[in-house]
Amino acid sequence: MEIEIKNLSKAYSSEKSVLSGIDLELRPPSIIGLIGPNGAGKTTFMKILVRQLLASTGSITIDGMDIGKNENYLKNRLGDLPQEFGLYEELTVYQLLDYMALLKGLGPEKKERIESCIEKNRAFR
Ligand SMILES: Nc1ncnc2c1ncn2[C@@H]1O[C@H](COP(=O)(O)OP(=O)(O)OP(=O)(O)O)[C@@H](O)[C@H]1O
Ligand SMILES: [Mg+2]
Repeated sequence: MEIEIKNLSKAYSSEKSVLSGIDLELRPPSIIGLIGPNGAGKTTFMKILVRQLLASTGSITIDGMDIGKNENYLKNRLGDLPQEFGLYEELTVYQLLDYMALLKGLGPEKKERIESCIEKNRAFR
């Protein structure tokens, strides 16, 4: 996936700009870390990249396509590894996987994938 960011800026208010004029090209193969002091704007940047927040100026394209116009293309390719894991303890394993599969957009193959996943992990119980 190629990400091209041009002139990206974000201000939450007229007094203070958080990101200003970022130009960045991210190309595979790469592992990219985003580092900076508290309040530098890392979370703001990531939220804009996943369309959780709108930028004040600039453009972002993914594989040449505007992320605003191709949100599904973007979201089908996004993965998320949270810092802390949380499970819904009121759900069974099947129900939890069913929910995850729904969020991932799995179609008719959902049931078979869930059952195979549970079967493969039986040894870890
Ligand atoms: N919703 C918001 N409204 C107003 N200001 C905000 C909002 N979110 C963040 N800010 C401000 O924008 C700046 C950047 O915040 P951001 O959370 O993006 O930084 P960060 O690099 O992720 O910080 P940290 O390392 O603490 O997670 C900070 O000054 C913060 O106070
Ligand atoms: Mg942050």
